Amino acid sequence: MDFTNKTALITGAGSGIGRAAALALSERGARVVVCGRREAPLQAVLEASAGEVLLHTLDVTDTEAVDALPASLPDDWREIDFLINNAGHEVGGRKRFDEGSADEWAAILETNVLGMFRVSRAIVPGMVARGCGHVVNIGSTSGLTAGATRTAYAASKHAVHGFSKSLRMDYAGTGIRVSEIMPGIVRTDFAEARSGDAEQAQKFYDSFDDSMEPEDIAEAIIYALSQPARVNVAQIVLMQSSMK
Ligand SMILES: NC(=O)c1ccc[n+]([C@@H]2O[C@H](COP(=O)([O-])OP(=O)(O)OC[C@H]3O[C@@H](n4cnc5c(N)ncnc54)[C@H](OP(=O)(O)O)[C@@H]3O)[C@@H](O)[C@H]2O)c1
Repeated sequence: MDFTNKTALITGAGSGIGRAAALALSERGARVVVCGRREAPLQAVLEASAGEVLLHTLDVTDTEAVDALPASLPDDWREIDFLINNAGHEVGGRKRFDEGSADEWAAILETNVLGMFRVSRAIVPGMVARGCGHVVNIGSTSGLTAGATRTAYAASKHAVHGFSKSLRMDYAGTGIRVSEIMPGIVRTDFAEARSGDAEQAQKFYDSFDDSMEPEDIAEAIIYALSQPARVNVAQIVLMQSSMK
């Protein structure tokens, strides 16, 4: 698929799935706006990419900054064809419910759910005005099933699932498509971000019989974006092959 003349915006693009998606889109000719809170990982994506990449530091929990997002992009970068809502975390998660705190739950929901709402609210009106666009939301198998110690994260990803389905219905027939990608276990910086402990993160991934790589999820995103206008890839669920 050739995405020349397409512009993508990816949140949480400095690492893991977002970084792999940025590189995969860029390889196929798209111009990519890479967003995240930390500049250094975004700079590394820019350096790894052969294509046109624009770095934009953005915290999806900062309502003012997200509202200002379209206007703060250079004029010729404002028409976003593909929005990849990917930023997410589970910092303070993997605890039994009574061991968690309201601040930790709020931070997970603020980013994973409201961040997605905010960025979509900033970008989708431009798609409406042009009568075309594609929103890809990164959910999780935790949006379909659940698990002990995962109350806040599973709740956030169930919210992503409901948001994605409803958003798709809002724009059915308008030229705007909405896809949700729901991965199982993917080896990224996610586990280390959660605990702040690299060794523990390594042990977490090693505790599974197998796991996926961020590039596997990027390929699913590319698949969703590559379909003819008559096809809306509503959902893709990707499980590591040992997952039941
Ligand atoms: N890894 C898995 O097993 C797995 C499975 C299913 C779904 N997912 C989902 O996949 C998405 C990407 O995660 P990942 O696995 O690639 O983990 P990751 O490597 O930790 O990437 C998450 C990215 O989100 C960014 N981020 C976090 N909070 C943010 C905020 N407030 N504003 C802007 N950016 C923010 C982080 O960058 P900064 O810190 O620089 O902002 C980071 O680059 C998440 O939505 C996650 O829930 C992951």
